[in-house]
Amino acid sequence: MMRESMTRDIEPSATVNAPSVTGGVAAPSVLRALRCSVCGAEFAEAGRALRCAHGHSFDIAKQGYVNLLHAKVPAGTADTPAMVAARAAFLDAGHYAPLADAVARAAEASARVPRSGGASPDFQRHEFRDLAALPELVLDAGAGTGYYLAAALDALPNAAGLALDLSAAACRRAARAHPRAAAAVWNTWEPLPLADGCASVMLNVFAPRNAAEFRRVLRDDGVLVVVTPTSSHLAELGELTLAVDPRKDERLTEGLSRHFDRVDAEEVNYPLELSASETRTLIEMGPTAHHLSPGALDALPDAVRVTVSCTVAVYRLRDEAA
Ligand SMILES: C[S@@+](CC[C@H](N)C(=O)[O-])C[C@H]1O[C@@H](n2cnc3c(N)ncnc32)[C@H](O)[C@@H]1O
Ligand SMILES: [Zn+2]
Repeated sequence: MMRESMTRDIEPSATVNAPSVTGGVAAPSVLRALRCSVCGAEFAEAGRALRCAHGHSFDIAKQGYVNLLHAKVPAGTADTPAMVAARAAFLDAGHYAPLADAVARAAEASARVPRSGGASPDFQRHEFRDLAALPELVLDAGAGTGYYLAAALDALPNAAGLALDLSAAACRRAARAHPRAAAAVWNTWEPLPLADGCASVMLNVFAPRNAAEFRRVLRDDGVLVVVTPTSSHLAELGELTLAVDPRKDERLTEGLSRHFDRVDAEEVNYPLELSASETRTLIEMGPTAHHLSPGALDALPDAVRVTVSCTVAVYRLRDEAA
């Protein structure tokens, strides 16, 4: 009885397609979600390229990502290869592992929890959702190296992941961040090259947000997990990192509130002891490294104690009819 109602509520396409076990943009659940960035048509794999029915073709790079950009993007927004390398080194050392754990917990828990409480039909549908039976797509907008996407995919064993980032250097790494991950170069401020309602989980970690587009591509019962720094985050580093607006969290909620309701939030706070070279790497993964006076990073103390302080917030689609 319960199983019957569960399968009836799942989209037909989700029940007939086996989940992808291999990664890459040509994995079935990723290919189904991607749309041609020129004309919006579906893609098919054509050799080492994705091609739409109108003949627009995008090569799949040997690292497994696809660059869907076809218009010039203003320089300076995408992370440079040096910033991406610094970010990869810092994250691989595990300094932000508690943040990744919180993101994974939010993605996993939210995928099980009903959109609305109580014993409504909606509640029943989600309460018994069997994660192992659902092919899900986790989308990470501004994914960087794919570190948080990989953590979410570990927590959602049947999901495929798609990293979007404006930086090709980031996508190169994100495509290899997890066996079920794929990556595409794209600008968050443009309409996303994705089908409506294709993502069951969206991540947005320290990256630009396009609320209207996030709303469009998120499934009705999907969740958006957003990580933002609080004003205490890395505050000890002073001008060596970007200052966080104390109203950032408030502004975030304001920016998303037209389309989303915040349903949960976890504050992740912990101290980090860093060596001089780790501190340097942390600064080099952010944009301030380019604006510092020469030598500013040469005289860092041997040991630095900084505070990691972030909010991991979970949003669900607002019922816009209400
Ligand atoms: C601070 S990094 C965070 C990366 C990753 N989420 C993490 O936390 O490790 C911001 C990322 O957003 C990307 N980015 C900046 N502007 C973008 C845009 N307009 N569209 C897509 N990605 C963008 C950068 O290339 C960079 O990878
Ligand atoms: Zn096309």
